[in-house]
Amino acid sequence: MKKKLVSKSNFIPVNVPKIFKQEKIYVKKCLDTAWISSEGNFVKKFEKNFSKYNKRIYAVAVSSGTAALEISLKSLNLKKGAEVIIPTFSIISTALCVIKLGLKPILVDSNIQNWNMDTEEIIKKINKKTKAIIITHIYGFPVNMKNILKIAKNKKIKILEDAAEMIGQTYNGRKCGSFGDISTFSFYANKHITTGEGGMILTNDKKIFLKCKSLRNLCFGEGKDRFNHSDIGWNYRMTNLQAAMGCGQLKNISWIIKRKREIGKRYISILKKCNKISIQPEAFKYAKNIFWVFGIILKKNNKISRDLLVKKLIKRNIQTRNFFVPMHKQNIFKKMKLFSKSSKLINSEYLSSNGFYLPSGLGISNKEIDFVAKSLIEVLKGKN
Ligand SMILES: Cc1ncc(COP(=O)(O)O)c(C=O)c1O
Repeated sequence: MKKKLVSKSNFIPVNVPKIFKQEKIYVKKCLDTAWISSEGNFVKKFEKNFSKYNKRIYAVAVSSGTAALEISLKSLNLKKGAEVIIPTFSIISTALCVIKLGLKPILVDSNIQNWNMDTEEIIKKINKKTKAIIITHIYGFPVNMKNILKIAKNKKIKILEDAAEMIGQTYNGRKCGSFGDISTFSFYANKHITTGEGGMILTNDKKIFLKCKSLRNLCFGEGKDRFNHSDIGWNYRMTNLQAAMGCGQLKNISWIIKRKREIGKRYISILKKCNKISIQPEAFKYAKNIFWVFGIILKKNNKISRDLLVKKLIKRNIQTRNFFVPMHKQNIFKKMKLFSKSSKLINSEYLSSNGFYLPSGLGISNKEIDFVAKSLIEVLKGKN
């Protein structure tokens, strides 16, 4: 009898984070000294180290990537009703921050080859009312930003770069998240660096930096005027415990990036013979994929639907996650009649209906990758 690669009882979650020794030492230090809130040296240390790593001057650590987006967009001080170009295919946080600030989200479809925002369509949608573009890098491969950055500079359109999924990735040799007027990151448990929950804002603009710092902390007043607040802010502070974890994780970033690419390459080495699926580009002249997640698109030549395939994989103890639902297909936005004129974003709909990602967290073993990839091939061939 053929030996099974992974036993039936071994459930393979879509993500298992990797915790190193250093985080435990740092977090214990917080607990031992009782510096557990946002008032602690690890927060400043994490901000300093993270901005240095990304070659940006200022950093503001916050409680999530969603919080980072909200604060960043507000810090740009756009007038109510201004248009902000965003991808339809991303996490809902992007659309939410625009809507909550009374701005107008303008959706852009995906490029079917690389799954990112279609840059030609961004250019077409720019007009006099466009005041910002949220450039969001998806799943591991960066947006080809060169032309957009040039046009935005000429037209004085602000760029908010969402690099939540891209920590450590580069575009033309420079770190993703170092291009925008402001950029945001997430440290949720499935990100390259995790603090459990958390986020970061980076900028080179001192005014924007000071505004973000204030917005993160309820816009408290100065000195004896502490409880007299200057604007509508949030408590989006990061705790010292989270920052301690971030400091430990950041020490291992080189290993993390190397391992993420190894995971991607290992999947490709097994799946490359399969003509029923497509994946994001492995490399292009401006970047090598970092495979934040290993995404799969079922081609049209398949007899099996994505949903049945996913069900069959779960029966084999393999958890997967379906791709994002585009913003113009969200129930809440339909109810609000927000994107009724955006019905032609067909690439994002195709990705959303046929895409899913395989377990690709840092905690996955090579043996598990092999098992997942081989199982996928078997299921695509019609086995249960
Ligand atoms: C592109 C992108 N932006 C923002 C976020 C939000 O980050 P968080 O979950 O930390 O709020 C995510 C989360 O996965 C994301 O993928």
